[in-house]
Amino acid sequence: MTRDDTGTKGARGGVGVALPHDSSRLHVRGEADYTDDIPEVRGTLHAAIGLCERAHARIVALDLAKVAAAPGVVAIATAEDIPGANNYGPVVADDPIFATTLVQYHGQSLFAVAARTVRQARQAARLAAVQYEDLPPILTAEAARDAQSFVLPTERLVRGDPRRAIDAAPHRLRGRARMGGQDQFYLEGMIAYALPGEDGTLRVHCSTQHPGEVQMQVAHALALPVADVVVLCRRMGGGFGGKESQPGLFACVAALLARKTGRPVKLRVDRDDDMVMTGKRHDFVTEYDVGFDDAGRILGIELALASRCGYSADLSGAINDRAMLHSDNCYYLENVGIVSYRGKTHTVSNTAFRGFGGPQGMVGIEQVIDDIARHLDADPLAVRKANFYGTAERNVTHYGQTLVDNVIHPIVAELEAASEYARRRREIRAQNAANPYVKRGIALTPVKFGISFTATHLNQAGCLLHVYTDGTLQLNHGGTEMGQGLFIKVAQVVAEELSVDVDRIRITASDTSRVPNASATAASSGSDLNGKAAQAAARTLKARLAGVAAQHFGVAPEAIAFRANRVHAGDRSLPFAEVARLAWLARVSLSATGFYRTPKIGYDRKTWRGMPFYYFCYGAAVSEVIVDTLTGENRVVRVDIVHDVGTSLNPAVDMGQIEGGFVQGVGWLTTEELWWNDEGKLMTHAPSTYKIPVASDVPAEFNVRIFESQGNAEDAIHRSKAVGEPPLMLGISVLHALRDAIAATAGYTLSPRLDAPATAEAVLASIDELRARRAQAPAAARDASQASAKVAS
Ligand code: MTE
Ligand code: HPA
Ligand code: MOS
Repeated sequence: MTRDDTGTKGARGGVGVALPHDSSRLHVRGEADYTDDIPEVRGTLHAAIGLCERAHARIVALDLAKVAAAPGVVAIATAEDIPGANNYGPVVADDPIFATTLVQYHGQSLFAVAARTVRQARQAARLAAVQYEDLPPILTAEAARDAQSFVLPTERLVRGDPRRAIDAAPHRLRGRARMGGQDQFYLEGMIAYALPGEDGTLRVHCSTQHPGEVQMQVAHALALPVADVVVLCRRMGGGFGGKESQPGLFACVAALLARKTGRPVKLRVDRDDDMVMTGKRHDFVTEYDVGFDDAGRILGIELALASRCGYSADLSGAINDRAMLHSDNCYYLENVGIVSYRGKTHTVSNTAFRGFGGPQGMVGIEQVIDDIARHLDADPLAVRKANFYGTAERNVTHYGQTLVDNVIHPIVAELEAASEYARRRREIRAQNAANPYVKRGIALTPVKFGISFTATHLNQAGCLLHVYTDGTLQLNHGGTEMGQGLFIKVAQVVAEELSVDVDRIRITASDTSRVPNASATAASSGSDLNGKAAQAAARTLKARLAGVAAQHFGVAPEAIAFRANRVHAGDRSLPFAEVARLAWLARVSLSATGFYRTPKIGYDRKTWRGMPFYYFCYGAAVSEVIVDTLTGENRVVRVDIVHDVGTSLNPAVDMGQIEGGFVQGVGWLTTEELWWNDEGKLMTHAPSTYKIPVASDVPAEFNVRIFESQGNAEDAIHRSKAVGEPPLMLGISVLHALRDAIAATAGYTLSPRLDAPATAEAVLASIDELRARRAQAPAAARDASQASAKVAS
């Protein structure tokens, strides 16, 4: 990794330079402005939302007299106060801002209140007298599937003849993988600050990955032209998908109260309420039926995916689609049938979370592989390799996209060597045989993740770039900053293009009045899309400035070169700033827009065939765990990762994304447990009951390598690859290392039944179950996992 901050063209911070995050100094000094830090305008009111206390019920009566009479209360808003649509659904119109006759999850919003202080607003919001008529709730993915309760139609994707292939296979297993949801746990909670402007216009500062959508949601709710609403976001304190579609509720409520009172209104959601009211990662139950040969090669497979979407569609369609499209992970499935049930439950509407269904698809197939390996008493890594996609053959995905960039083989080869997988696996087995209580486990799992929004039309971006006459620049694009380092990467692209120091570029807040109709910053495509749009804008300006310089030097524009903050014509040169000033004097525009749309992609969602993804990201991880088999307590002792980022735009930022993504994935699969009670009330709504990883959970030995790549095979920005989401799925290696350690407690004769999250409690239960199974039925020792039965073949 380069520590030299000079780019290829002699200016500070072009592409490929390991610059720190542009706001890192502000972050550590507490000087970075988040939405709540914006100085409050005089007269600002504070809002709170009144939540319902039933999972599924009819509202018989809603009495707000006590709310209205509470100290400090200035206004109340209910559905009747909404001049436009009582809805903020991003895709389907099934998300009411305020429930009116029916409540569909415990915590759904009923009304809102604006008061002089935050505390007054929150206290008043609890004073509503609500009468309910209870209805039976459906709470789990399986219950929803069994009741045929769906937010969207069931989808099926088939290639080949899975049924026949399974029946004809030498071996066959059935099993089930369950994986929990996950709260995004962004450190900055949901917040919106709405400021009424003249003539009915509105400005909303909002912590959102998708300012353009918030703008539309607010406009529709208030029956305003979209052009009358401006939404701004300088940065988020984390989004992780949680702020892709759901900030709209809070923005609409703040805007509605601002409209009603004529005063600025800020809605900062309490942490517990935020966890109750906002959607999480979808939990999934995946059932499989697989036929395979003696080498563990999958000949035919059927997968049934059931997810808990919550009460509304939100982004569940695209999330479940992505789960289907990632049910292969790195494996060639010649004969495959996938059915996907999108369960409607009376729980909060689940939403985007880093990986967006991809992780759930992969956890399913990885368990299939592990069960096959344990059934055959083979190294799971050997079974993984036997099923890998090829490079010249066996390289077409189940949706018909040919892999042209498959680098999983060299990545795994490099990782195996670097981690000394084979030697350590042998040693661990020997140690485990000698040690009755403490068991170690090791696993290598691969990742292949498709880059592009699966909704093809979203793969577009715009940029607005200004040069001022002192040679400084302002950069604005449709992307948002949530800590992932998008803004510095895009600034590096501009610095590279114009050969100017990156610190001359002022990075500005995402702003719907500067770049309109931008997509969410999501699908890991932020730097791909906005980087290309910014490059286009910079090239336009460069051509104009080259024209001005050519005139000045009396040469052809082709003879002009930009290097190290200067504009050159042979051995003569001018400072970049001087050329900008000359352009201004010559009345040449110093402002340009740029636009980009991803080429090549497109697929037919009816037949599930085509090219949903522009390219794929690959990586692999080896994790080693140590488990106390008397308590289930465990630690990750060592992790080795090799991950492909193409030609990195910024290796320091990419390294942070790989490490952070991995740790977040481990949290999902081990300690983060969401628990609803039988009434459908979320009981884990604070860090006291919901355990996210902290610094001390980072593996003691953590070796992360960026794969020495030839660069992206596709023409992505400077041949880089997206990095935001894929590393999260490297965390699956820890789940499998735990499975390996648990398997040791029964002499590696059985496949453990272990659901995610594999909490210490779950690990202990799994060990007990495994030992009981072995004691009970030694003859059927080679049973597969999870209520699976060995089916006679
Ligand atoms: N990194 C940080 N620090 N904070 C975040 O909220 N979100 C992740 C990932 N990395 C996130 C993050 C998610 S869900 C996505 S889709 C990408 O960043 C989005 O940014 P990008 O497209 O610019 O990579
Ligand atoms: N990924 C992330 N967010 C999205 C997608 C996707 O594929 N499609 C729509 N929103
Ligand atoms: Mo990321 S889940 O696509 O916001």
